Amino acid sequence: MDFVNEVIAWKRDGRELDARLLRAFVDGVVDGSVPSYQASALLMAMVLRGLSDAETVELARALVQSGKTLDLRVVGRPVLDKHSSGGVGDKVTLVLAPLVAACGAVFGKMSGRGLGHTGGTIDKLESIPGFRVQLPQGEFVRQLERIGVAVVGQSERIVPADRILYALRDVTATVECDGLIAASIMAKKVASGTAALVLDVKVGRGAFMGDLDHARSLGRLCRLIGDAYERPTTCIFTSMEAPLGRTVGNRLEVEEAWQVLSGEGPGDVREVTLTLAGALLALSDLGIDEAEGRRRAAAALADGRAAEHFERWCFVQGGRWKPGEFHRLAAHEARAARTGHLTAVDALAVGQAAQIAGAGRQRIDDTVDPAAGVLLERAVGDQVEAGDVLAAVFSRDPARRAQAGVVLNEAFTIGDERPQPGQLVLGRVDATE
Ligand code: URA
Repeated sequence: MDFVNEVIAWKRDGRELDARLLRAFVDGVVDGSVPSYQASALLMAMVLRGLSDAETVELARALVQSGKTLDLRVVGRPVLDKHSSGGVGDKVTLVLAPLVAACGAVFGKMSGRGLGHTGGTIDKLESIPGFRVQLPQGEFVRQLERIGVAVVGQSERIVPADRILYALRDVTATVECDGLIAASIMAKKVASGTAALVLDVKVGRGAFMGDLDHARSLGRLCRLIGDAYERPTTCIFTSMEAPLGRTVGNRLEVEEAWQVLSGEGPGDVREVTLTLAGALLALSDLGIDEAEGRRRAAAALADGRAAEHFERWCFVQGGRWKPGEFHRLAAHEARAARTGHLTAVDALAVGQAAQIAGAGRQRIDDTVDPAAGVLLERAVGDQVEAGDVLAAVFSRDPARRAQAGVVLNEAFTIGDERPQPGQLVLGRVDATE
């Protein structure tokens, strides 16, 4: 029996894999000596048996060591990062990155593209004409030193094993394992030089994690890996029952982020951003606590510094940012079927409608349309009359627009009673100091 076969049988029978075995597996995946059928079998054994804490940390280590690592200590300041587990209308990074810089800390991030019904920051940034998401490493570092903010696409040389394994997991029903997810997320953070991290774990209909217990389990594992690498990691659990804000789709979301940066915009986007900003600034070298971090962040939104930092950031990364200057596409409108109160807006349905309209990808190599997406005219709790416009979905392609319209129409629930306001921030796991 060959070595990999033995490792698969070992895990299948519920025994723990040690650092040496995990490293041999990951190295074999990268050098091609472990074929995809064996990798898939081991991944399935991991999903069915689960990973222990020790296995999760050692898998993260093996992933980190599979490629290049970035040492951002040359910046001379701790480089802070935020990661979202994926949501609908989640434009928080677009606001948080320049906001943290406006408060005097350094924010650097390697970010992904959107897949499925959830969006990705890189696609959103690329909806700004000219915005360069690939920077040479030296330029990334210089930009952090100069203006305190840089967000770029994930480098292919960082954690190459994750790219291979994630592609396999995606097509073998092996994504759903907390240890695999935590190791995958945190390995990329550690290897890209993050000094401290705030993880926004989304919970609810439109999220990866359907319930809070599950989210807590993922948060605990991520913090464990952060601890192993001395990268303080705070996890904040936020609701993703309804989309965040009023827009879903790349350019539409940048426009809304700009409103929040200018001290306006929807309250939920602002609240999540300020919560994360407070937590992140408390992990910075500014020597302030979370309440003071939040206060400083709110002041930077109010007095124009955050918006100014956003403009500078766009300019330095080549983006020609002009609010409101984009091509408006034809729309299908979803209307209220009856009079009453809007009791739910299904984040998953809205995300799927935006994806069908062209804002998201079905497959990793699909292209996205920067102007496609959904604009929500009404929010949970609003009173509506039969026939009122609840939302519009924009698409270049009439067939897609019609199909997205059918999905969007199903996203709204109208009842007789005004619903109790839902909680936005559901809980947290704090970084170990
Ligand atoms: N996001 C990641 O980066 N990895 C996973 O495994 C799941 C979500």
